[in-house]
Parts: sequence; structure tokens; C-alpha cells
Amino acid sequence: MTFARIAIFASGHGSNLQTFIDITKARKDFPAEIALVVSDKPSCYAVQRARDANVPVFAASPKEYPDKAAFESAVLEALRDARVEWIVLAGYMRIVGMTLLDAYPGRILNIHPSLLPAFPGKQAVKDALLAGSTETGVTVHLVDEGIDTGPILAQERIAIAPGESEESLLARVHEVEHRLYPRVVEQIVLRHRQAQ
Ligand code: GRF
Repeated sequence: MTFARIAIFASGHGSNLQTFIDITKARKDFPAEIALVVSDKPSCYAVQRARDANVPVFAASPKEYPDKAAFESAVLEALRDARVEWIVLAGYMRIVGMTLLDAYPGRILNIHPSLLPAFPGKQAVKDALLAGSTETGVTVHLVDEGIDTGPILAQERIAIAPGESEESLLARVHEVEHRLYPRVVEQIVLRHRQAQ
């Protein structure tokens, strides 16, 4: 069995990254392997999780580079060295630029904690609560030049309980994310393999 080589991009806690680390270990038939973890925050917990799991890491602060294009070129070199085929954004707090979009057309996925197009941006869970919504959810989509735009691959709804706290809702959102994201990655990798 050949495994699709994925890179997971993360900037923070890395719970979605951990899900992929766990599933690729636990399921021998999972069709993807983590070839690289990329982070723009070298000291974040996601990087620690990757190192603990012996996954190769490229972690660098964009401040070390003259501009965004130079940072992305360095990332791209690391992706090419690791022979990465798919990019999986999991809490990567940076807008992906044209260097990576051009190099991986239709091959960059993102997960977002709302039912897009509702509540794009950095604090989607909080925004859903502030808006008094009775439901929110999780979206996995392909990445394009916009912020949280791009073709939707999968969505799952989550009802918001009256008076629910942000903490409680966030925990339920993560539970859904950890189930949905590996499933969508598995599907897209298998679909692409069949089409080849
Ligand atoms: C997730 O809620 C994801 O939807 C959003 O960023 C968060 C990352 O969480 N894009 P984690 O770092 O994977 O724990």
C-alpha cells in the first residue's frame, strides 16, 4: 500500500495534528502518512507534539525572512524535500500565499470551526455565540486566495444549547473536528488515487 504524503500546518495547540498522528499510528490502512509538520510558531505545542511523535518538522518564524514570499519559498523547499503531496491546515494562523497555492493547486485543505460561509475569521466559535445562533458546526474546505473561502468538501452541524459557554461549545467543536478531518482527508486521497 502506498501512502499519500501529507504535511500538517499548525500554529497552536495542535489537537487536530494529534488526531492525525494517532490515526496514522493506529490504522495501518489509513491511506496517508505525515511527511512533515510545518509551523510558523516554533515554540507552539503542535511542534512539541510532532517532535514527541518523531515526525519531521519545519518550524520557523516568518520574521526571520525578508517577506512572505521568502518565507513561503523556504516552506516550499521543505515540502519538496519531504515529497509532500497534500497540505492539511490545522489551526495554521497565517494566510496561505500564492507561492504555496501555485505549487499545490486543489491540494490544500483547511478546517474551520463554523458552518461557512457563516462566521469566517479567527474567532468563529465566539462569533456564533455572540450572534445568538442556535447552531454552528465545522467545515472542511479547499483553500483559495480568500480567507475561509474555497470549495466546501464537508460540513457537520452542531446545535448550540441555550446559555452554552464558549468553553463547552469549543470542546464539542473539537470533538467533531477530530472525527471529520481525518475522514475527509482519507476520502480525498482515495478519490484522487482512483482517478489516477
Ligand atoms: C480548530 O478549531 C480549527 O478549526 C481552527 O483552529 C483550531 C485549531 O485547533 N482552524 P488545534 O490547534 O488543532 O487544537
